[in-house]
Amino acid sequence: MNNALRLGSGPHFTLTLHSEEATYAFAAAFARRLQPGDVVALSGPLGSGKTTLVRAIVQTLHGSDQTLSPTFTFWHRYDGDPPIDHIDLFRIDDPREVVELGLEEALHGHSVVLVEWWRNAPDILPPRRYEIEMEGAGDNPRILSLREPY
Ligand SMILES: Nc1ncnc2c1ncn2[C@@H]1O[C@H](COP(=O)(O)OP(=O)(O)OP(=O)(O)O)[C@@H](O)[C@H]1O
Ligand SMILES: [Mg+2]
Repeated sequence: MNNALRLGSGPHFTLTLHSEEATYAFAAAFARRLQPGDVVALSGPLGSGKTTLVRAIVQTLHGSDQTLSPTFTFWHRYDGDPPIDHIDLFRIDDPREVVELGLEEALHGHSVVLVEWWRNAPDILPPRRYEIEMEGAGDNPRILSLREPY
């Protein structure tokens, strides 16, 4: 693995991803350190690559043979080891909706939880979490910033 893909030892880490393949390579390195119960909060504008990163993490942990349990449109659970919950709060206007839907249970369980648009309900996320921010759109490179839990 080259230096650009090695994860930083400090709490902050910024990386330029010149292609979707680079995003997959980052995801492969990052996903291997995720433990059941870990929460990853993803932010960045529309089309910045949050879902692409989630797909890459699922692919790394579960391979191409993924099983998706039927759930809500904004909440996909991938059965596997570890289970992965992919939650997209883009359409959530009121954080109370999230509490009613039972998302808090997922956030304190034994799955790896990946949350897009988490700032729509910031208080439901545990303080111990990874935060990843994506910047960039279209054909431009993406800037990825990772903040580690401790
Ligand atoms: N380096 C890159 N990393 C990720 N995606 C990239 C990159 N370069 C180009 N793309 C493209 O950008 C698009 C990102 O779309 P994606 O659905 O992942 O964004 P998103 O952040 O989840 O948006 P939304 O907020 O609408 O959910 C994809 O079409 C992808 O192919
Ligand atoms: Mg998305």
